[in-house]
Amino acid sequence: MGIQIAPSMLAADFANLEAEAARIPSADWLHMDVMDNHFVPNLTLGAPVIEALSKVAVQPIDAHLMIEDPDRWAPEFVEAGAKSITFHVEAARDPITLARNIRALGARASMAVKPDTSLEPYEDLLPEVDMILVMTVEPGFGGQSFMDSCLPKVTRARELIAKHGGAIWLQVDGGVSLDTIERCAQAGADMFVAGSAVFGADDPDAMIASLRSHAERHTH
Ligand code: DX5
Ligand code: ZN
Repeated sequence: MGIQIAPSMLAADFANLEAEAARIPSADWLHMDVMDNHFVPNLTLGAPVIEALSKVAVQPIDAHLMIEDPDRWAPEFVEAGAKSITFHVEAARDPITLARNIRALGARASMAVKPDTSLEPYEDLLPEVDMILVMTVEPGFGGQSFMDSCLPKVTRARELIAKHGGAIWLQVDGGVSLDTIERCAQAGADMFVAGSAVFGADDPDAMIASLRSHAERHTH
């Protein structure tokens, strides 16, 4: 798998998600930010919205769960049609069982870490997941500035992935733009979430192409 771009629908027009998805045919995934106002101080959308969009969009849905008790809620998001489910390790009670449950239901399982969370304690989770998400902002809101301080963790994640056989995707999310994507690709990321960069552009699909080519140029 090469470079993948997953526009965050948080920056799209919520009154017309079907049309917004249709504006970005070259997106590899639609990134859906689920926030519960407990794990993060913001409230967005839940499984019914994902179910509705998954029925009308051609792109698969990448659900980013910024919620407490993902152990309980994750299966609902698979049933709603999401093909990839990301839970935060800070919120999961039993991350190994959670990842196994997600996979058993037929979706990709992914673990996320906030900027202050180290990957080291979670190395035993790597055989259980299909993707690692290294947050490059504090989760909760779109449009924040990229945190360069998170880049060493992207590099570390790439090392850990290599040690475990290399098949795990490495996603970055938060402040990814034409200005910052090269640094992420250089550090080893291969899946890029971008909300304001894509939907703030005059031509969102052309922006996806630009982001992709910037990332490709800086991938070793
Ligand atoms: C932040 C969300 C991100 C956000 C990205 O908590 O997880 O997916 O929508 O938005 P931008 O690209 O604008 O930083
Ligand atoms: Zn996200």
